[in-house]
Amino acid sequence: MTEPLKIAVAGLGTVGAGTVKLLADQADLIEQRCGRRITVTAVSARDRSKDRGVDLSGVQWFADPVALAAEADADVVVELIGGAAGAAKATVETAIGRGRHVVTANKALVAHHGTALALAAEERHRTLAFEAAVAGGIPIIKGLREGLAANRTSEVHGILNGTCNYILTEMRTTGREFAEVLAEAQQLGYAEADPSFDIDGIDAAHKLAILTSVAFGCAVDFASVYVEGIRHVAATDLAFAEELGYRIKLLGIARLTPAGVEQRVHPCMVPKDAPIAAVDGVFNAVVAQTDFADRVWLVGRGAGAGPTASAVVADLVDIARGCAAPTFGVPAARLARLEPSPMEGRQGAYYVRLSVADRPGVIADIAAAMRDHDVSMESFLQRGRASSPGEAVPVVLTTHETVEASMRRALAAIAEQRAVLEPPRMIRIEQF
Ligand code: NAP
Ligand code: HSE
Repeated sequence: MTEPLKIAVAGLGTVGAGTVKLLADQADLIEQRCGRRITVTAVSARDRSKDRGVDLSGVQWFADPVALAAEADADVVVELIGGAAGAAKATVETAIGRGRHVVTANKALVAHHGTALALAAEERHRTLAFEAAVAGGIPIIKGLREGLAANRTSEVHGILNGTCNYILTEMRTTGREFAEVLAEAQQLGYAEADPSFDIDGIDAAHKLAILTSVAFGCAVDFASVYVEGIRHVAATDLAFAEELGYRIKLLGIARLTPAGVEQRVHPCMVPKDAPIAAVDGVFNAVVAQTDFADRVWLVGRGAGAGPTASAVVADLVDIARGCAAPTFGVPAARLARLEPSPMEGRQGAYYVRLSVADRPGVIADIAAAMRDHDVSMESFLQRGRASSPGEAVPVVLTTHETVEASMRRALAAIAEQRAVLEPPRMIRIEQF
């Protein structure tokens, strides 16, 4: 009889308790699939008295996750605490230092320290696995690293944050404003403990930095990700987008360009008939453009106990079977150091919303600023009139393809005009 794989779980919240539950519910199936059982021998969390809804009898309790990583009777430490520093980082470093495999769902930790942790694990011939860190239940890490190992990937993009996708979907379908829908997302438990990580795009940027590394075989470079969240997207933008034939999505986009690696997270207008436009609510989607397999699409639930535990346990099954791939698809010591491509070089079309005083000549001045900065306008929309002269009205314009640096200069000039009453709001248009 093969020995069970012994695991110690640090963190018993949504994902930790979900993982322990999945391992119990699917114990026989998992044993069949890996030829051995996966047994939880130790756990750690802050509050021992909390009911986690799982049976922890016979399991050793550690008040300190770092002590668990150092002392537990376990082959694998599963880190499900969260955060790029503190207890999570110390737990993972200690586990690797003690020669244990590590499985984590912690995108912040991998985005900030992934390359160094992978080097440390690979030096000791141990696995560092993080399928659950990107897009929850969607097997995108394995898909890129193993399923597409014979391809060069030139682009990967996707909806990487379920909270933002839920908020944008609700704003579009109900006409409600951002703050009201965010409060609802928090009540429903979709948002991270600190919701600014979701709505300011940081969570999606963590995931994108990891995807970039696996897709292009380069060191994780979170600091080079351009990040913009969805705080400034208004219900009126979603309505205008609909009228113009677009949907607004918070996308993460990584591309190999002649100028280097582009990594960006920001709200995008995508054509209504693009497949990604139809991915609504808390669902995530990831699209990879490859040379031999062409375009590969994965859609699924990016968060929640079940989907995330499914990804954590998939990594455990690999370890139990003795399957090991380099952490980011290429041995960590040979990951490329690629130049970041500056955001100012982004080429594409733009949507701009302005709040202007409703009086003659205002539109001509806006058009002149666009002309002066080499930005060609495609369409212009003004809906309604102010009830008295000089009162604010929203106007919207879209541009032909232009370079981001020109667009920024044009918007800076427009913002200076006396008739422009609020900072211009700009959303990039992406054609997929
Ligand atoms: P969570 O519900 O807040 O759970 C965190 C767990 O860590 C809790 O059990 C907490 O203990 C424990 N903990 C926190 N600080 C600790 C410390 N210093 N020592 C020991 N235990 C500590 O978080 P989660 O949603 O499960 O997320 C866990 C990780 O998975 C994060 O990295 C997150 O980004 C990632 N993730 C989450 C999801 C999701 O859908 N939730 C999806 C993908 C990835 P107590 O319970 O006693 O407070
Ligand atoms: N807060 C994240 C989201 C959880 O909304 O997608 C999963 O990483």
